[in-house]
Amino acid sequence: MKRNSKDSELRERARQVIPKGMYGHESVALLSEDYPQFFSRAEGAYLWDCDDNRYVDYMCAFGPNLLGYRHRGVEDAARAQAAMGDTMTGPSEAMVVLAEDLVSMIGHAAWAMFCKNGSDATSMAMVTARAYRDRRKILVAKGTYHGSAPWNTPNIKGITAEDRAHIIYFNYNDLDSTADAFRKADGDVAGVFATPFRHETFNDQYAPSAEYALGLRKLCDDADALLILDEVRTGFRLSRDCSWSVHGVQPDLSAWGKVLANGYPISALVGSEKARSAASSIYVTGSFWFSAVPMAAAIATLREIRTTDYLERIIANSTRLRAGIAAQAAAHDIPVRQTGPSQMPQILFDDDPDMRKGYFWAGFAVRSGVYLHPYHNMFFNAALTPDDIDNTLDITDRAFAELKRQLPSLPAQSNELLLQRLGR
Ligand SMILES: Cc1ncc(COP(=O)(O)O)c(C=O)c1O
Repeated sequence: MKRNSKDSELRERARQVIPKGMYGHESVALLSEDYPQFFSRAEGAYLWDCDDNRYVDYMCAFGPNLLGYRHRGVEDAARAQAAMGDTMTGPSEAMVVLAEDLVSMIGHAAWAMFCKNGSDATSMAMVTARAYRDRRKILVAKGTYHGSAPWNTPNIKGITAEDRAHIIYFNYNDLDSTADAFRKADGDVAGVFATPFRHETFNDQYAPSAEYALGLRKLCDDADALLILDEVRTGFRLSRDCSWSVHGVQPDLSAWGKVLANGYPISALVGSEKARSAASSIYVTGSFWFSAVPMAAAIATLREIRTTDYLERIIANSTRLRAGIAAQAAAHDIPVRQTGPSQMPQILFDDDPDMRKGYFWAGFAVRSGVYLHPYHNMFFNAALTPDDIDNTLDITDRAFAELKRQLPSLPAQSNELLLQRLGR
């Protein structure tokens, strides 16, 4: 494998002209040298870095790749729309069709509004919730990522206390703590954010209890506040509807992004009838929010979601990978925790406080052409085949064997930023 010559050059050039060489994305600073930063192309389940190394990709662009990179049906739809026009003086028919599709597919949906990123959709949800009864307080689970806007970004540099003056935090999946947050708000709760399951970096993932989902719904109803489900990361990987429909819980608003157009830039806020008038009263827009190509791509993506077994295939393949890794971990006597739904797996190692085991194992896989992540949940796509899973398992087994061999002398983690992030 040719390592890093073009990548190193691009990193160096980027440092001259781009703050930190790559702003925002903490992955670059926290990952080891095993990970390339720049990519040149992607097809199906595969990704090529700028040095032309191929990877079976289990990050899927941090989510957006659901059906496989450059999926034919989606690309055809995008190309056909591009030939007619993309960003125009107003939207195309595609906006209406896309809203109709979402309304027909998502249980609680009576309307949809479109934007670009997940952060746009969650911020729009916050504004809609405040407009609903002219209230101020927004309840958010402590430590949950809902995007990079000042009210929520995990990095507080450049953010004032006033940006978060009306955010009240509670503990996820803890009804007492959530009820306490309602009490603190003293009748001023506009809305409550929830992610379908707990999926924070560096942590085991877990689902809330049905009792919690139902209890949260009731707390919102009793207070006449809006329940907002943030499906930006989970959307259409767990279900073809909102994820809490399994608990019989419908939110008032749901935020979608990432997979919506299989990689084309579009996100959405979807709402129930109850929230329509609030959504009609707010001012939200953007120069590119009405672009037609991502909408055409989204219509094609949603058609695949409705009409194919993409989800069942993703679940079958991801279950197989999970079982294979569990068997390997047991055989090598190196316990790992695989948490969350198999189609969005998080793999963390037992007894690994500075994550040296996890970084070694995932880094070995990356160097061998399988892009695994050491601390962020991963994502499956529908282009992965059973052969890809077999090839991946072959490499993860070698990674376990090498980890076992090197374990007694595995160097401590030296990345200062990572150690800070781990609180060490
Ligand atoms: C749950 C959740 N909400 C919101 C966002 C923000 O989405 P975006 O990065 O598209 O702004 C993310 C991004 O990872 C997310 O995981």
